[in-house]
Amino acid sequence: MEIEVKKVDISKIKDIDFDNLQFGNVFSDHVLSIDYKDNKWQKPQILPYGPMEIFPSLSSLHYGQTIFEGMKAFRAKDGKISVFRPDRHHQRLNRSARRLCIPEMSYELFINTLTQLIKVESDWIPDRRGYSLYLRPFTFATDNFLGVKISDTYKYMIISCPVGAYYKEGLNPISLCTSGEYVRAVKGGLGEAKTPANYAASLLPAQEAKEKGFTQVIWLDGIERKYIDEIGTTNIFFLIDNQLITPPLDGAILEGITRDSVITVAKDWGIEVIERRISIDEVFEMNQQNRLKDIFGTGTAAVISPVGKIEHLGKEIIINNGKIGDLSQKMYDEITAIQYGEKEDKFNWNYHIY
Ligand code: COI
Repeated sequence: MEIEVKKVDISKIKDIDFDNLQFGNVFSDHVLSIDYKDNKWQKPQILPYGPMEIFPSLSSLHYGQTIFEGMKAFRAKDGKISVFRPDRHHQRLNRSARRLCIPEMSYELFINTLTQLIKVESDWIPDRRGYSLYLRPFTFATDNFLGVKISDTYKYMIISCPVGAYYKEGLNPISLCTSGEYVRAVKGGLGEAKTPANYAASLLPAQEAKEKGFTQVIWLDGIERKYIDEIGTTNIFFLIDNQLITPPLDGAILEGITRDSVITVAKDWGIEVIERRISIDEVFEMNQQNRLKDIFGTGTAAVISPVGKIEHLGKEIIINNGKIGDLSQKMYDEITAIQYGEKEDKFNWNYHIY
């Protein structure tokens, strides 16, 4: 596949403090860019990262016809570089594309251009445990038009950031509260698509949660406001007795790839995993009965994010005395060991670049 490559004259990598990386504020030297016009994806380009010229009438700015993904590239101890489950990210990108009327992309185009970008940016992949190169593919409508309609033209890009932990808590438990007023999504809406609207919907309630001293919102379903959907930045799991329970993919929540990895690993360990609706009242009740053993979020950026406290309607529960649960720790160790090539990749999740 022919890709045009225009490299920067001088890399900015020497100015980056790799010891103090925050999530998402340092960007590597290059971007991948592919335009869509005349009903097809055009020649891919790798270009210097920098400002883009757009018209104020860009339709995606007005109506949000935009989708994105989040993947990670890892450097193993022996220097080998791999991407975690890009095939699943490609499937989800196309699923989001269908919901937002954005053209799909072949796996060949997706993986070949991703591979080329990673090769060009390989120096940006941190070489220490807990760090990775976060890859952000996204597609947005580029017609300049103010009527509400499906765009004829698009741009697909990948930007990348060297990152550490997503939450400042790292592997320390986060705290969550429900939102009395707002919902994230309802079945039939956009909830299962990875599209900015879902994240925009979370900003105000997340700010309110922060003002009350919590890390994030735990979303309840948009109809009965009773059943737990997800955390917004991650999916969620509950260990009750010896069962690992996670809300089902009912159309309102994101089909997380780390969610799928956790289900697969847990089943492989012989843990019974149940995808079913679980109400916030049941979680509080199970905690009361000392049957709630662990709660954690799962996501590409956050990996495994233990939950130490939940507030709902003025009542609070503390899980594991606010400390990381055994399963959260074991699952984090297992998934990251596979990602960093320290354990056998028996599910074939690592896509090796070289
Ligand atoms: C990811 O986990 O990759 C996401 O896209 C979530 C976002 C909050 C960083």
